[in-house]
Amino acid sequence: MKSFRIALAGALSCIAIWLLVSAPPELPETTSATETQRSLDVENMFNAVNAINDAARTIYTARIVGPGLKSGLKFSEEWSEPDVEAGPLPALFLRVVAGRMESKPPRLGLYLGSDAPINKSNLFSETQTIAFEEVKATRAPVFSVSSTAGQIAMYPDIAGAGPCVSCHNDHKDSPKTDWKLDDVMGATTWTYPRASLHPDEYLLTTDAFMASVAEAYGLYLDKVKGFETPPAIGTDWPSPERGVALPDVPTFMAAVRAKAAETVMNELILRDGLPGDDKLAAVLQ
Ligand code: HEC
Repeated sequence: MKSFRIALAGALSCIAIWLLVSAPPELPETTSATETQRSLDVENMFNAVNAINDAARTIYTARIVGPGLKSGLKFSEEWSEPDVEAGPLPALFLRVVAGRMESKPPRLGLYLGSDAPINKSNLFSETQTIAFEEVKATRAPVFSVSSTAGQIAMYPDIAGAGPCVSCHNDHKDSPKTDWKLDDVMGATTWTYPRASLHPDEYLLTTDAFMASVAEAYGLYLDKVKGFETPPAIGTDWPSPERGVALPDVPTFMAAVRAKAAETVMNELILRDGLPGDDKLAAVLQ
């Protein structure tokens, strides 16, 4: 019982750190055999990182790209070219996040695809298309296991903001021009090698993913700083009235964290309800 409490206190203090600052919780140097028995399903972790990704993507699209376009900022496929004064499109922002994640220890992979993609390299394979049909029909995640990729989760990528629809419908390479708000435009596919995780591994992975989002946004700001007339970077967001200000990394990440925190915490501790549930007992025993 005492070890229950200690584990709960540990998990809660890690979450408190996660909610307040961006410093990653340290993974304990030693893990005893009994501690490793307390494990979470990989689905809990997929749900958490997907919530962070959704939050980052929606905030980037609705609060940066949308108002940014109206106040003079540009977003382009060629954003990383030295002579192009533009930021990454939402899908490319996700690719930068995925790239940053690759350089970190947790082996979490992510990929954005569609059955009607602007970029043909984002077209689903045959097997992925079967899973995607189910995602489209249920608008819920689909979990599977593969001998090569390990655990796989596919989550719907929904047109949650006006710019998703207008930009895709107007794009010269889009095979589909009648996207509507709330359509399932594609799916984010996640991979992880193992089916269960220790709570510390859960925190380490979610935190590494948060750090990857922060780094990707930081790379965008680094690019902006080199513009001929760089916009002000601080606590303001771009708006057609106020002009082309951009939030700094802490301001952007605070918005992401606020939007995703509830899911991240619930997936760790309260996924199936109140203390006393089997799930919570399994996490805490
Ligand atoms: C300003 C234009 C623009 C906006 C806004 C935009 N996209 Fe895209 N999107 C693109 C382009 C261009 C690509 C292809 C990028 C690549 O991989 O080269 C793309 C790629 C994608 C893909 C991968 C399949 C494909 O079409 O290649 C999905 C899924 C997707 N976007 C969904 C969304 C959603 C959902 C939103 C809103 C949250 C959104 N997009 C906002 C332009 C945009």
